[in-house]
Amino acid sequence: MVDVILGLQWGDEGKGKIVDYFTPRYDVVARFQGGPNAGHTLYVNGKKVVLHQIPSGIFHENKVNLIGNGVVLDPVTLRRECESVASFGVDFRKHLYIADRTHLIVPTHRALDKASELLKGNDKIGSTLKGIGPAYMDKTGRNGLRVGDLLDKNFTSQYIKLRLKHQKLLDSMHFNEDISTWEEEFLEAIEFMRQFKIVNGEYFINEKIAAGQKVLAEGAQGSMLDVDFGTFPFVTSSSTISAGVCTGLGIAPQKIRDVMGVTKAYCTRVGSGPFPTELEDETGELLRKTGQEFGATTGRPRRCGWIDLVALRYTCMVNGVTQIIMTKADVLDAFESLKLCTAYEINGKKTAEVPFQMNRVKIVPEWKSFPGWNTDITGITNANELPMQMKDYVQFINNYLGVQIKFISNGPGRDQLIEI
Ligand code: GDP
Ligand code: IMO
Ligand code: MG
Repeated sequence: MVDVILGLQWGDEGKGKIVDYFTPRYDVVARFQGGPNAGHTLYVNGKKVVLHQIPSGIFHENKVNLIGNGVVLDPVTLRRECESVASFGVDFRKHLYIADRTHLIVPTHRALDKASELLKGNDKIGSTLKGIGPAYMDKTGRNGLRVGDLLDKNFTSQYIKLRLKHQKLLDSMHFNEDISTWEEEFLEAIEFMRQFKIVNGEYFINEKIAAGQKVLAEGAQGSMLDVDFGTFPFVTSSSTISAGVCTGLGIAPQKIRDVMGVTKAYCTRVGSGPFPTELEDETGELLRKTGQEFGATTGRPRRCGWIDLVALRYTCMVNGVTQIIMTKADVLDAFESLKLCTAYEINGKKTAEVPFQMNRVKIVPEWKSFPGWNTDITGITNANELPMQMKDYVQFINNYLGVQIKFISNGPGRDQLIEI
């Protein structure tokens, strides 16, 4: 049995906190896609930690944490993260497993990411510059190196071959930054990685499922950043939706039970690309300030706006979402009135569907307004105590989406989650 927790918007919905909360109910927590472009924030003993590649179940005793084959893994970032979790007393050597088919991010992938963005100029994706796109290109282009290759005595020569290929590309892109420090760190981190439990991920996880263990698959990014269904080309390079769980871990679709979709009570996006409900005014500024909307990976200010139900209904559909978890509801405490986008107007025509290319058309959102609750909800633990206005807001969303909000998060803390 496998349940999934994934983002329904453009990332940063609070997936890390939610995975951490639900981990006690599972035996295995597994990342199935993405890489160090992710930044998942958790609070452990009141202290903030940001995880990029290690699954968010790592702070719980006796849970298996697996980095699945669908991930692209940066050994340098992994090493830093391991040091960070070890400072909390976590024995990562014991609890962290890595699938041998996981592709590696090498320093020249990061350089290629940077070179590609520079060439795009104003059309840049706003990538996190962690080498994600180039690493996935080498996977689908059948050039990449995988974690299992580390165990091969020819690893260094394979690496040098790939590096030369990349160097030719970088030369053609007129990229001439010195990356020797990155490379030194990389080669050291490769040695560090040899101490990990490198497993055949698909047998590993299927044997656990067959033995009756419960698996929680942790998504990174968000469904609107999915390479197929997101706002292409302003997307990431992996399958962020529930289908990615199958290819990213080697699990059959009928093993998936619940798909828990995480959405903020409003909406944010970091990087370039269309965002129909974006507020480039003082309301947007207030959301950013109250929600502390600055990227967990890059520190960039996140673009903010009201919740977009058209996009949410779409992502509920492509994921087969069975329940919704709404985060950062407390951020709306300060607002006199709230808005939800219920339709798009495109060229004078109303639609409730996400168009083929959001960035090529002008989208005017149609709004439904709600009075705010103007109450501090951060201390509430029981759903009955939630303000009436909030119950109405939630009910409207439930009706629109045809999927129920089952949990509401009312603060960043580990226990600030209300079951409805
Ligand atoms: P992720 O990438 O989906 O894991 O989300 P991030 O960690 O990038 O961003 C979510 C941010 O919101 C983090 O700073 C969290 O600590 C914070 N957060 C999560 N849930 C809540 C909530 O319910 N209320 C508030 N105020 N902050 C939250
Ligand atoms: P988590 O898991 C928010 C965005 C980048 C950029 C686009 C492509 O923390 O929710 P990439 O580095 O993948 O080539 O960038 O995707 N992006 C994210 N935005 N949260 C993330 O992850 C993201 N990972 C990538 O800002 O617009
Ligand atoms: Mg994040």
